Parts: sequence; structure tokens; C-alpha cells
Amino acid sequence: MMILRAATVRDLPAIAAIEELSFPEGAMESWSAESLAEFVGKKDVVFLVADDDGAAVGYAISRFSADEFELLRVAVAPARRREGIAASLLSRTTRDFGDFLERAGLESGKGWLEVRSDNAGAVSLYAKIGFRERSVRKNYYGDGADALLMALDCFVR
Ligand SMILES: CC(C)(COP(=O)(O)OP(=O)(O)OC[C@H]1O[C@@H](n2cnc3c(N)ncnc32)[C@H](O)[C@@H]1OP(=O)(O)O)[C@@H](O)C(=O)NCCC(=O)NCCS
Repeated sequence: MMILRAATVRDLPAIAAIEELSFPEGAMESWSAESLAEFVGKKDVVFLVADDDGAAVGYAISRFSADEFELLRVAVAPARRREGIAASLLSRTTRDFGDFLERAGLESGKGWLEVRSDNAGAVSLYAKIGFRERSVRKNYYGDGADALLMALDCFVR
């Protein structure tokens, strides 16, 4: 059975392995278990893992602050893509952000992310969640690919 839960240090080797497969050299640098550890147990970070019978198959890392959150990372094990895992992780992140806003006495906020314009799968995932393109940073990655800055309006239910 698949559950979404907060990541712990015990998940990091599996998550680092997904990083390596998901961000091969060149396009974007993959994060090691050591660098991923910086996001575990942080008050302003929501680090969710999709756990399928004990195996980490996907994760999403976001930083929450005041009335904004930034999606830092989302990836799913190659063999488990197109099952809706990333969409579930992002929906849970936005729901958690809604609760965060409510606790702060706010009614609305914004989610932000940056994505390579040539990462068609990720761009359509984000659009499906409701993120809209706000600006383009030309040749941001130095290899010709642009960065798209996308934003999502979030409201407390
Ligand atoms: C992008 C990524 C996270 C998507 O994960 P996923 O679990 O396969 O995504 P989902 O199954 O939740 O997809 C939800 C929707 O997003 C869109 N989508 C996802 N992957 C897509 C792809 N490769 N091509 C086109 N649309 C895609 C589709 O609309 C999909 O709905 P559908 O399957 O009903 O058509 C995954 O491909 C991945 O890990 N890529 C490498 C890492 C990466 O690029 N991360 C983003 C930058 S940090």
C-alpha cells in the first residue's frame, strides 16, 4: 500500500538513488544523501516521501515561508512514473501549505518553482496541478535551456 509521509534519514539512500537516475549529469546536478539530509527535520521544509510497502518510490521537497512556498524538488523512480505519484505528492504539499497559511491566520498564498523549459513531463505535471508560467529566464542553465518560473495561487479552504 502506498502512503505519503515525512521523509526520515533512513529514506535517504533510496531517495539519492532516485536522484541519480532522475538528474543525470549535464542537465541538473543530482543531490547526494548527505546534501538531502539538510532538508530532513527542518521546521520550514516539507519533505514528503511516497512509501510503497516500505520502499521509497518518489519524493517532493518544498520550503515554506510566510505566505509562499517554493518547490525545490520532485522526482519519482523511473519504473513508477505515470502512476500519479508526483501529482499526489504535489497535491499533499499544497494541502499542507493551506494548513500552514491557516495556522498563520492568512487566507491565501503562492507556490513557486523553477523548471527547465525542455523538461516537458515536469512542465505538464506542474500545469496540471495549476501552476502557471510567470516569467522566463533565457539560457539560465548555460546549455541553451531556459528556466520557467511558475506560480500557483493557493487559498485556505
Ligand atoms: C516529472 C516527474 C516527477 C513526474 O512524475 P510522475 O509520478 O510520473 O507524474 P504523474 O504520474 O503524477 O503525472 C501527472 C500528470 O503530469 C503529466 N506528466 C507527467 N509526466 C509526464 C511526461 N513524461 N510527459 C507528459 N506529461 C507528463 C501528465 O499530465 C500526468 O497525467 P497523466 O499520466 O494522467 O497523463 C517524473 O517524470 C520525474 O521524476 N522526472 C525526473 C525528475 C524531474 O525532472 N523532476 C522535476 C524537476 S525538479
